[in-house]
Amino acid sequence: MTESITIIDNRTGNQLEIPISHGGVSAAEWQKLLPGIWFHDPGLTATAFCESTITVVDGENGILRYRGYPIEQLAEKSNYLEVAYLLLHGELPSAVAFDQWRHEVTMHTFIHENVRKRFLEGFHYDAHPMGMLVSAVAALSTFYLDAKDIFDPESRNKQITRLIAKMPTLAAAAHRFSVGMPFVYPDNSLDFCSNFLSMMWKVAEPRFDANPTLARALEILFILHADHEQNCSTTAMRVVGSSHADPYSCCAAACAALYGPRHGGANEEVIKMLTEIGSIENIPSFVEAVKQGHGRLQGFGHRVYKNYDPRAKIIKRTADDVFAITGKNPLLDIALKLEEIALNDEYFTSRRLYPNVDFYSGLIYQAMGFPLEMFPVLFAIPRTAGWLAHWQELLDQDSKIVRPRQLYVGAEPREYVPLSQR
Ligand code: ACO
Repeated sequence: MTESITIIDNRTGNQLEIPISHGGVSAAEWQKLLPGIWFHDPGLTATAFCESTITVVDGENGILRYRGYPIEQLAEKSNYLEVAYLLLHGELPSAVAFDQWRHEVTMHTFIHENVRKRFLEGFHYDAHPMGMLVSAVAALSTFYLDAKDIFDPESRNKQITRLIAKMPTLAAAAHRFSVGMPFVYPDNSLDFCSNFLSMMWKVAEPRFDANPTLARALEILFILHADHEQNCSTTAMRVVGSSHADPYSCCAAACAALYGPRHGGANEEVIKMLTEIGSIENIPSFVEAVKQGHGRLQGFGHRVYKNYDPRAKIIKRTADDVFAITGKNPLLDIALKLEEIALNDEYFTSRRLYPNVDFYSGLIYQAMGFPLEMFPVLFAIPRTAGWLAHWQELLDQDSKIVRPRQLYVGAEPREYVPLSQR
């Protein structure tokens, strides 16, 4: 079988054979035969936006791998900082390299006092923490002017380290401000996740030691959320990065994309849905309403996964460990029953709708005490590693600036009519 396609321009009879490479065909080849004929692909559902070596998602078979490593193995055996290193460098670190990386991240957790005092504390008292995070990340670009040297490897590494290290600090600061609690400085004697939990929950004790099971659960959630190839926020990162903006501005754009309820807000929607259902008896009527087209089963279905999301399986197991410490989230029983009913219902099975990563993650975050508004913020912290890995890859590929075409369907040329005559 020839791995190519042939296109024929029926207007002229001209034809062109294009090789299929890695499951795609080159649009540049297409242009040779058909200049000025564009692909109409809103949502980029059929467009391979780039070549990438970072993450692969096989949605048919429910497989997710970072740099070739199955997500199940990373979630079980690794930690977030090691996974961040893997995403950024393509290989797992040696023991020496890991120590160095951990040390560097730990030494960059503090934020400039002006970011906190003048910037974060300037927000309205009820500001949403994700809105604060988007702005604070963008503001960092004004503190690190060397960030503009994006082709200087030393500067690039420094900004990457700073961003990974400062995200939890900014995230916790945004939460503390939104609930009127004083800012907690990073504790550099703690590991990445324990330090974040300390900045979130510390009150007056000299040192906050997070429950190790909860810190590990957060670590697993961070590993699972570290990358997911060309999702909406990563695409935003690549689009802005293609203009050669500094990494803080790119990351702020990615955070902004994650703020949307279709992306980073789905687990919040799951909690709202389960709360609205209220009790197990109400599930059948709720499912019936969804089948009649009244709303969707939140946390179900995925553009890419047409099988059980592998992350959802891991999260479900993690939930048991968390609830053993925090007590069971009262919404869990409703979630379990809802999943069981949906997975045995022809409507959902025929459409290949399975639980996605968001179905159980919100239950864990809620049981750990995080308010709903913090859910997208909790997503942004680990996804920063993925964003930066893609940003770096983009720059190394010397990609063109992203500048798509459009199919113009607006008004024909017409003459301007002065205001007095309209
Ligand atoms: N509940 C009920 N029906 C659904 C659901 C759902 N959650 N998801 C899809 N369907 C149905 C659609 O109504 C449609 O049915 P039809 O063919 O009879 O019209 C069919 O399944 C296909 O749906 P699409 O909208 O075409 O699927 P798409 O790939 O565009 O959407 C999405 C994927 C947005 C995730 C969708 O499944 C959804 O809205 N899920 C709920 C929200 C959610 O959980 N989002 C988190 C995604 S994971 C993440 O972003 C981290």
